[in-house]
Amino acid sequence: MKQGGSDAAKRAAGESAAEAVEDGMVVGLGTGSTTAHAIRAIGRRVDAGLDIVGVPTSFQSRELAREVGIPLTELDDASVDLAIDGADEVAGADLIKGGGAAHAREKIVDASADRFLVVADPTKTAETLSHPVPVEVLPAARTTVAASVRQTGGEPTLRQAERKDGPVVTDNGNLVLDCDFGDIDDPAALGQTLASLPGVVEHGLFVGLADEVHVGSEDGVTVRE
Ligand code: 5RP
Repeated sequence: MKQGGSDAAKRAAGESAAEAVEDGMVVGLGTGSTTAHAIRAIGRRVDAGLDIVGVPTSFQSRELAREVGIPLTELDDASVDLAIDGADEVAGADLIKGGGAAHAREKIVDASADRFLVVADPTKTAETLSHPVPVEVLPAARTTVAASVRQTGGEPTLRQAERKDGPVVTDNGNLVLDCDFGDIDDPAALGQTLASLPGVVEHGLFVGLADEVHVGSEDGVTVRE
């Protein structure tokens, strides 16, 4: 997994994207260590009088948003103006997400947003996507989906909890298969194949979804549109 970026780079990216938030917006709050910097920066702006509501994408982002004082709502009750979220790999407007096993809710929020800003450090950028694709599966479909992934040329690995005391269980009560396909020449086609497998809840290919990518570094931020 590409997680080698420095905290300073992640912070630069997160704080840059947080500046795009304006009064009155409904803001999608992504998941992960880079987005956490954006959420904290938005929280400081809320303290200073910014009037927004957030839509969290995970238990983790909900807890952080509450801690920093961002008022929250649900996607059922609002439409998202701007979403800010991290990525495990970025190639142009295409992403691989799900390193935090939150990609199902992230995709719902990010895809529904009028504008979606990705926050990343330079270790996440690539010419061609090749990071293993997280695939959230119903527990009962773990074996059948793994077999289908192998048939399409991928190598699935059931994601284990950090303490190795069992598999990762998503906020939705499902399991995650990290599926290594090597270089992904046609992300849209692979995404359609994965989405068509019975028992797949959501996969981590976010094809053509990014409107802007804020890439932070120790020296500043580059914004790619
Ligand atoms: C969670 C995600 C994260 O946004 C992605 O894993 C990046 O995380 P980080 O900013 O900690 O590197 O997709 O499901």
